[in-house]
Amino acid sequence: MLTLKNITKIYDQIIALNNVSLEFESKGLIVITGKSGSGKSTLLNVISLLETIDEGKVIVDDLVISELSNKEKNLYRGSLFGFVFQEYNLIEDMTVKENLELCITNSNQEADKINQILEQLNIVDYKNKEVKKLSGGERQRVTIARALVKNAKIILADEPTGSLDEENGRIIMELLKSISKDHLVIL
Ligand SMILES: Nc1ncnc2c1ncn2[C@@H]1O[C@H](COP(=O)(O)OP(=O)(O)OP(=O)(O)O)[C@@H](O)[C@H]1O
Ligand SMILES: [Mg+2]
Repeated sequence: MLTLKNITKIYDQIIALNNVSLEFESKGLIVITGKSGSGKSTLLNVISLLETIDEGKVIVDDLVISELSNKEKNLYRGSLFGFVFQEYNLIEDMTVKENLELCITNSNQEADKINQILEQLNIVDYKNKEVKKLSGGERQRVTIARALVKNAKIILADEPTGSLDEENGRIIMELLKSISKDHLVIL
């Protein structure tokens, strides 16, 4: 479903990605490991079109998304990808529910879906709480909820447990594993 073809990414003199080719199925948990500075975050940012590339192609279902216009890239990024990063990128002063409503288009139809997902992630009690009052583990569950509410096909998780304690890290990993039954999760 997702293909990287001969990707090279150069920052100034640094070759962050050197002729990388990979193929991903439409489901499953894929874990990318490597030492600090080896290009893991760059790879995820290239996949989600947050970074441009110097050579190669990012292809989703036969469409070369890396060669789209900026406007089209933004549309694709918004609909295709869910982001679960070490920094949560949630809006602190909004409630959990308000954060999730930001990524849906038809709010009547989706209200049920939000509830269902919050229940699945065991955070339904926090629905009307402001994000700034949540713990790290709870916030990270909200970012996973956001990806699910959006129905993102591809979930990109860059060190999602990096700022969590062991117990919360374990919970987040279990959740990512479980959603990888229906989504492609790249960690
Ligand atoms: N915006 C940037 N400008 C210049 N160089 C960059 C930029 N982003 C990354 N790099 C360089 O590209 C290389 C790959 O960085 P990247 O962040 O992808 O590594 P990483 O594998 O995610 O590392 P870590 O495990 O520390 O998060 C590094 O040498 C880094 O210094
Ligand atoms: Mg990184």
